[in-house]
Amino acid sequence: KNSPGVNLSCLATLNQAYEALNQTAHHATTFQRPGLMATSILNGEDCHGPSSHVKYSPIDSSLKLGTCGTADVEIVETALSNAHNAYEDIRSSKLSTRCNLLSVFAEALHQHREELSHLAALETGKCIFDSLNEIREAIDFCYYYGQSAANVLVTHPLPHTAGEQNKLGFRGKGVVLCISPWNFPIAIFIGQIIAALVSGNAVIAKPASNAVFLAHRIIKILQGAGLPDHWVQLVLAPGNTIFDTVIPSPQISGVAFTGSFDVAREINIALATRRDSLVPLIAETGGLNAMMVDSSALPEQVIQDTLHSAFNCAGQRCSALRILLVPQQQLKLYETTLIRAMDTLRVDSPLLTETDIGPVIDRDAFTSIQRYIRHEMSTYNVHQVELQKHSPNGHYIAPTLMMCPDLKEIHKEVFGPVLHLVPYDESKPEPTIATLNKKGFSLTFGIHSRIKSRIRSVIEQINAGNIYVNRNIVGAVVGSQPFGGFGKSGTGTKAGGPHYLLHFVNEIAESVNI
Ligand code: NAD
Ligand code: ALA
Repeated sequence: KNSPGVNLSCLATLNQAYEALNQTAHHATTFQRPGLMATSILNGEDCHGPSSHVKYSPIDSSLKLGTCGTADVEIVETALSNAHNAYEDIRSSKLSTRCNLLSVFAEALHQHREELSHLAALETGKCIFDSLNEIREAIDFCYYYGQSAANVLVTHPLPHTAGEQNKLGFRGKGVVLCISPWNFPIAIFIGQIIAALVSGNAVIAKPASNAVFLAHRIIKILQGAGLPDHWVQLVLAPGNTIFDTVIPSPQISGVAFTGSFDVAREINIALATRRDSLVPLIAETGGLNAMMVDSSALPEQVIQDTLHSAFNCAGQRCSALRILLVPQQQLKLYETTLIRAMDTLRVDSPLLTETDIGPVIDRDAFTSIQRYIRHEMSTYNVHQVELQKHSPNGHYIAPTLMMCPDLKEIHKEVFGPVLHLVPYDESKPEPTIATLNKKGFSLTFGIHSRIKSRIRSVIEQINAGNIYVNRNIVGAVVGSQPFGGFGKSGTGTKAGGPHYLLHFVNEIAESVNI
């Protein structure tokens, strides 16, 4: 079963969305006083912590959203001990109960889709329709993992000799720490938690500090829908507090992390130095994703798929297109056409339905992306879209195209609306593919070609967890396009895939002679 989604081609639905948006715009001004409040939630109780800070919106850095109470070590330790105590209860709960709970969560999220999409727009700058899509993905995760658990996590009888009974069963690992990023503050935050829960684990959920109001609201919605209070502990603590307190704790049995490669690596090292246990890490990290176009491709389709892949969500998707590879002889064609197409993009408030691209997440991201653009401008020809008139205090970055003659010069994931246009020799794609593979990221990859043998050959050579042919390279659909990369892009686990839940359980083989 999939989320019913929101059909925006239906006029009545669209009008409803506009109506809700207008209300949000009104509420946004009233956030100033007294504003939202986000706190940790321990065993169902809000827990403020000794310090708090005021949070502002990326739409306008003077728009106060509210206050976040920051968890200190004491709160984190309480969360650990609560989760440890909850595990026995979760482990002994029926698999069918947990699966059914996920269907109820799906319904609850659908009921709250407008509220959550507006909050996502305000807190993370995500355009309203992208937020609605993200909620659809979260709902899909609920249905998919519920069904997957019912199919996969059941006891399997095994071959046996006379008088013996063999079977393979599954048991939640214990307490799983779920660390999520701000760029999918709904789908990934929920996806990790429900995967751990339905597999029989207690959860400590640590959302990104730029997505705390959403995290707090989502846990309240799930608890309202029947999530037992003690099954999930929400901790709004800085990354380093979690790193120092939870990662070394003997009370955790697994970590599910989505975020940058550097932080995943740090966590991996810390887990590897533990002496008491081999604690597994599921890591889903960044990408340096490319699309390879040949001269048999349809330029109109390439342009449309490129714009969507590179600039949707202001380029703040791990799956986003960073490098467009076009045949040397078509470089001028693609440069001219892309620039014209980019100039039609509207960069503006994510609360406006006509906006294509909203702000980037915060001042730090804004500064570091601008620094990258300014630095590269001294080397390459660069085209930037003109910004609309919008709040001068928002973190808006114009979609940027960089004409980069050599693929070898692109090294790092720039997490924003920046695309590199790079020529390659179509008669010899192998060295280009080898150069891409050498970069070590292996997340998404696209091919645009009408030549079947070439498509097959490229697919065989490229290292990427998700390969797309003649389409855009973002927005993997739960159950149809299991998502995740390997190498510097992750541990090879596939969110929304048939084997994902197996990473959250221990397999127990029983051989019984009676
Ligand atoms: P990040 O690594 O900075 O933060 C991710 C999470 O880790 C946040 O909750 C953060 O607070 C926490 N954290 C930071 N330092 C920590 C530490 N030392 N110990 C424990 N936790 C710590 O990443 P981000 O900026 O939030 O997200 C953007 C990155 O995530 C990009 O690289 C993007 O490609 C990647 N991403 C990957 C996927 C995927 O599925 N592969 C999906 C979304 C985002
Ligand atoms: N799963 C998300 C995508 O495919 C990150 O774009």
